[in-house]
Parts: sequence; C-alpha cells; structure tokens
Amino acid sequence: MALWGGRFSSDTRDEVARYSESISFDKRLYRHDIDGSRAHVKMLAAAGIIPQETAEAIRAELLNIRSRIDAGDFKYDISLEDIHMHIESALIGVLGTEGARVHSGRSRNDQVALDLRLYLRDEIDLLIEGIHRFQNALVGMAAAHPRVIMPGFTHLQHAQVVLFAHHLLAYVEMLDRDAERLADCRKRVNIMPLGSGALAGSTLPLDRELVCAELGFDRVTRNSMDGVADRDFAIEFTSALAVFAMHTSRLSEDLILWCSQEFDFVELDDAFCTGSSLMPQKKNPDVCELTRGKTARVYGDLTALLTLCKGLPLTYNRDLQEDKLAIFDAADTAEQILAVYPPMIETMKLKEENMRRAANDPALMATDLAEKLVELGVPFRTAHHRVGSFVKWCKENGRLLNETTLEEMQISIPEATEEFLTLFDPDNSVAKRRLTGGTGFDPVADQLAFWQEKLK
Ligand code: ARG
Repeated sequence: MALWGGRFSSDTRDEVARYSESISFDKRLYRHDIDGSRAHVKMLAAAGIIPQETAEAIRAELLNIRSRIDAGDFKYDISLEDIHMHIESALIGVLGTEGARVHSGRSRNDQVALDLRLYLRDEIDLLIEGIHRFQNALVGMAAAHPRVIMPGFTHLQHAQVVLFAHHLLAYVEMLDRDAERLADCRKRVNIMPLGSGALAGSTLPLDRELVCAELGFDRVTRNSMDGVADRDFAIEFTSALAVFAMHTSRLSEDLILWCSQEFDFVELDDAFCTGSSLMPQKKNPDVCELTRGKTARVYGDLTALLTLCKGLPLTYNRDLQEDKLAIFDAADTAEQILAVYPPMIETMKLKEENMRRAANDPALMATDLAEKLVELGVPFRTAHHRVGSFVKWCKENGRLLNETTLEEMQISIPEATEEFLTLFDPDNSVAKRRLTGGTGFDPVADQLAFWQEKLK
C-alpha cells in the first residue's frame, strides 16, 4: 500500500504506476532531499514537535540512506513514485513509527520545491565555474595570438579587418552575461519554501527561519500558495541556459565555417572531430554541429517549462512533476558543452597565413578611404558615394582596389592624395582603430588585460 493509501481500497494499476512515477528521473535529487529532511527534522525537534532522540535517529538514518544510495545499494520501486517517498519509506523501514514522524508539517509539494531550489543553487554554482573556465580558454587563445588579423564579416561578406583576438573576446563578453544571468537567477532560487505545506502552510508551530538558516537560504517565501506553485526560478534558469546555448551555437557556427575548405582559418584537434564511414578524407566538426543541435533541445526545454505552467490553476498540479525532465536536460546539456569547449578551444590550431591572405583583400579597407575623406572635410554620404564609385570602377576594370594609380582613383575620388594609396595595409587599418571597444592593437590589449585580471 502506498504511503498515502489510507483512503484507497485498491492498489494503483501497473500502467498508472508506470505513468505517474518520477523516481526514474528525480532520484538524482536524493542528496538535496536528504539535506532538506535533515534540516526539517532538526527544526521539528527544536520546535518541540517531535522528540529530540527521534530527530537524531532520523538524521543519522538519513545519512545511512545517503551512503547506500551513493554506493548504488538502494532499491527503487515505481510503486513508491518519487524520491521523497523512497527516502521516507526507507526511514520507516528502519526506524518504524518514529521514522514516520519525518513528514510532520510538510507536503511533497513544498518538499519538491525545496529540493529543486537546492539542486539549482548547486547547479548554478557549478555552471558559473564552468563558464569561467570557458572564458579563460578563449582569453588564453586570444592572448597567444594578439596580432593575428582576419576579415570581419557582416552578412557573411568581407566587411572590415579585425583581430582574431577581438573576435574571440566577443564570445568572452557573451559568456560573461550568461554567468551574470545565472548569478541573478540564483537570487530568486535561493528562497526557502518549506512551511508552505501542500498550499496553506501548517497548523504546527514550525520554525521556518531555522530551516532557512540551516540550509543557507537568503529568506523564506512570503506566500505559501506561491511557494508550491512557483516555477519561475526554473524557467529563468533554463532561459539563461537557452541564451548560453545560443552563444555556444554561434561560436560553433563560426568554427564550422573556419574549418571549411573555403575558409580554412583553423584546424580543430583530431580529438574533437570525427570521420566519415564512407569518405576517407573527411574530418568533420561534429562537436560544433551537435552544439547547434543540442541548443535546439535546450530551447525545447524552455518552451516545455513555459507551456507546462501557463494553464495551471493555483496551486500545485501534478503537471509540475514533468518540470524536472526539462530542467535536468537543460542543465546536463550546458554541463556537457562546458566540458568539451574549453579543451577544444585550447587545442585549436590557427592557420595564420590563410587568415592573413583573406585579410589582404583591399576591399576590406574601403571604409578607411571614406573615413579619410571625412577627415578631409567631405560629408560622409558624399565620401561613401565616391568610394562606392571607385569600387565599381575597379570591378569594371578588373582591378583590385590597391591596383590603381592615383589618377585612376581620382576619377571617382577627386580629393584622393598619395596617402590614399597607403590605406590598404591591414595592419595599419587595425592599428588606427584606437577607440575603446575597437579592434585596434591597443584596445584589444586593454580588453585582454581586463579579462586576465577579472578571471584570475
Ligand atoms: N513527484 C512529485 C513532483 O515531482 C512530488 C510532488 C507530488 N505531490 C503530490 N501531491 N502528488 O512534483
């Protein structure tokens, strides 16, 4: 008979037991569930609700159960539904009726909310650490190649020259926002729901503040109905991971392009690629492609959680049991990404000559010509038009922009001087971008110094 079986006269059908169990996926919450229960019984004894010796026996037996689960020496049974019931019935199995006092003043509704918050708090700390390692790998790669120049793209067309380091540091910025979002979400995760009961609190004189302090939460929830119905914190968490995954997917797309024969800017280490079962020459950037694919799944997790909650009347509804599948999947995927990307970035080989060759395209410096005209007092729109005509003239005459005489340039740009012929050097072009946040050697060195200091 189930622990809640008092008012039932028949057992759950097998199909229903299989349909409603969550032990197959919520068993991973056992450590958090046990931490929560240990704090709860400590408080029950302090508040005089259960005997001190019972609390001590329960607290000790919970540690035993934890060791048994750690060691893989614990039997799961879907008739016990979830991790909460498994642990409670294991306690009762050993301690008899004294063990049956553990659930005083508690419901699985506030218990599962507590477990999720404890789990997410740990997960957030782990992920933020992982993100910092990822940032360090990118910063290390950028610092090792501070002067490598490559084409920057807009619309995937050659736009202007940039430093490779600048490109990588853009991802360091994105990852920093991801870590910030997780840290911000942690503030709303770190609130203690126990004492909400099923929905209406409890008639017992529970000491919520004691449990709150014991488990290191910032404060207790203010409304018991919100306490059991709220999953905003999990939605925020998954949303932060969806953005994080999107960033890693964009980086992956850059890497896939850079590894292609057409770009040929980098080579990923063999350990991060796979071959083709048919074509012997192939070395595919599967990790990067999988990240694009896994990002789709994380978006799915976010959509699942939002949809799960949107039609739920207050308060707890069993639909909420499904939240864990989405939360765990998003967290696991982010962890996997964070395990693979730092070493993949650290071992990536640059093909500097190929980047350089691509950066030598003088069209990348067309904007420099227009800005030189602005310096000479020409209104920008006029300057843009003149350089545009020059580009057109070059195309029509089969020349690159740096293959004309001054006289030929002056057909389109009457103001052009000898100096204009020197503007096609990629190093000079980069060097002149001295603004904060620009791709110049100095501002990029400043960015590097900033991150090296911040991530120390
Ligand atoms: N396994 C359930 C969940 O994950 C725990 C709460 C069950 N509450 C209930 N009233 N049946 O949501």
